[in-house]
Amino acid sequence: MKNKLVFATNNIHKIEEVSSILNDKIELLSLKDIHCNVDIPETANTFEGNALLKAEYIYDNYQLNCFGDDSGLEIEALNNEPGVYSARYAGEDKNSLANMQKVLSVMEGEKNRKAQFRTVISLILNGKKYFFEGTIKGEIITKERGESGFGYDPIFVPEGYNKTFAELGNEVKNKISHRAQAVDKLCKFILSLEK
Ligand code: IMP
Repeated sequence: MKNKLVFATNNIHKIEEVSSILNDKIELLSLKDIHCNVDIPETANTFEGNALLKAEYIYDNYQLNCFGDDSGLEIEALNNEPGVYSARYAGEDKNSLANMQKVLSVMEGEKNRKAQFRTVISLILNGKKYFFEGTIKGEIITKERGESGFGYDPIFVPEGYNKTFAELGNEVKNKISHRAQAVDKLCKFILSLEK
């Protein structure tokens, strides 16, 4: 029988991304698959803390091996804000356009445009905790460019490129992104245990 692993998310894109790397070696389950309808609270003030809250919730309530993730944008000139508040920077309705507008307005006239996206994955395997991290450095431009992706993609240009994530498109983005790097580390670790 194949080993089962829960990804504490209902985001279908994230499930597909990890499933495709794990191939058919491990059966990946979403929250829906295990009939968990709870919106697990993200009340920690670090990515590590929030990722762990999700994994612990599943491990404690379902006794299943699992992992959770948390990501966000850290802007150097803003003391790494919006950070864990990235989704709700401009308000609880989690409006991406409003979030981007807020960043652009807070950064108006700011010379230091350095920023990074960061993802932390927390895995609980047979009671043991592991963390995997991915970051991508870049800068915040002064006006949105590009149509693809989500969140802050139209205002973030990764280092070594002159296009925003939203202009580069998902094919390029998914090879270099913070999430791709963290997922890659997680999958390499899991696959190494399967050998
Ligand atoms: P999550 O933890 O992956 O759901 O990300 C939380 C928030 O961070 C999102 O709602 C976005 O505002 C922002 N974010 C995370 N990853 C990305 C990305 O790849 N592009 C743009 N925004 C992102």
